Amino acid sequence: MQKDNILVIGACGQLGTELTYELMKVHGVEHVFACDIRTPKDVKHLFDTKMYHTLNVLNQKKLYELIKTLKITQIYHLAAYLSASGEKFPEAAWELNMDGLFNILNAARDLGLRKVYWPSSIAVFGPNTPAIMTPQNCIMDPNTIYGISKLAGERYCEYYHKRYGVDVRSLRYPGLIGWKSAPGGGTTDYAVTIFHEAIKNNKFECFLKQNTELPMLYMPDALRATIDLMEAPAEKIKIRSSYNLAGMSFTPKEIAASIKQHIPKFKMTYSPDYRQAIADSWPNSIDDKVARKDWGWKPKFNLEKMTKDMLENLSS
Ligand code: SER
Repeated sequence: MQKDNILVIGACGQLGTELTYELMKVHGVEHVFACDIRTPKDVKHLFDTKMYHTLNVLNQKKLYELIKTLKITQIYHLAAYLSASGEKFPEAAWELNMDGLFNILNAARDLGLRKVYWPSSIAVFGPNTPAIMTPQNCIMDPNTIYGISKLAGERYCEYYHKRYGVDVRSLRYPGLIGWKSAPGGGTTDYAVTIFHEAIKNNKFECFLKQNTELPMLYMPDALRATIDLMEAPAEKIKIRSSYNLAGMSFTPKEIAASIKQHIPKFKMTYSPDYRQAIADSWPNSIDDKVARKDWGWKPKFNLEKMTKDMLENLSS
């Protein structure tokens, strides 16, 4: 059987950097290509320039050319503005998040791609969504540009699947936490920065209030979920909008306490900013039983296991 060639778009981001290398383990180094808006010179520290291509996903002509030249059969489309940066640049965020997705879905239809992965987020939920164990199907009234674009994107993914048979698959990620790459522009980013600051300075000023509980997921679980979803037989994928996905839920106070177990001197202070309102509109915890049933999802990391692993890896 002919091997798939994979293109990761937005490969320099928090998820992209790690996912690209995980995909190489599954598909082979020579079958995975990374692209992002940055020049090869700027990403030399991340990728071998032989497998890296500069691409603005809004440039449809260049996207189609790259797919044809590299004989791409699967795309992971990760380029997007996140929740906090989306509120700073609402028009640019809408353009990138929506037109970028349209270019990928149209490419899948026009050029016959085998599979597409596109991430959604807990940001699709809003103030009237049931906040505790948020079900797969419920009221969704997002009030950030990021959340609105992700919800619209989910509807388009399902539409392209039904109407054009595009095999598009998606997960509603909680906040992603990892030590290898830095997040940018999200509301859940505090849960990554806190580890760096705890190790460097024994203190951290949090931009959310101490009791703001949010759903989170450790990167090894996120990578496994993504690849398991994409490698599952198509008939198992019953949801073509996006699957709820859960790992753990905690508040800033709880993660601080967990870090204190390892770094007793650690001190946390609170100075909530505009991101508090975004966090307040999102769920506290997510019910992911549909993902568990359909394709066997199960997280491995809770707060304690993650804290230990993060601190060990960042310290060394
Ligand atoms: N981590 C994202 C954000 O905070 C949520 O999907 O924007």
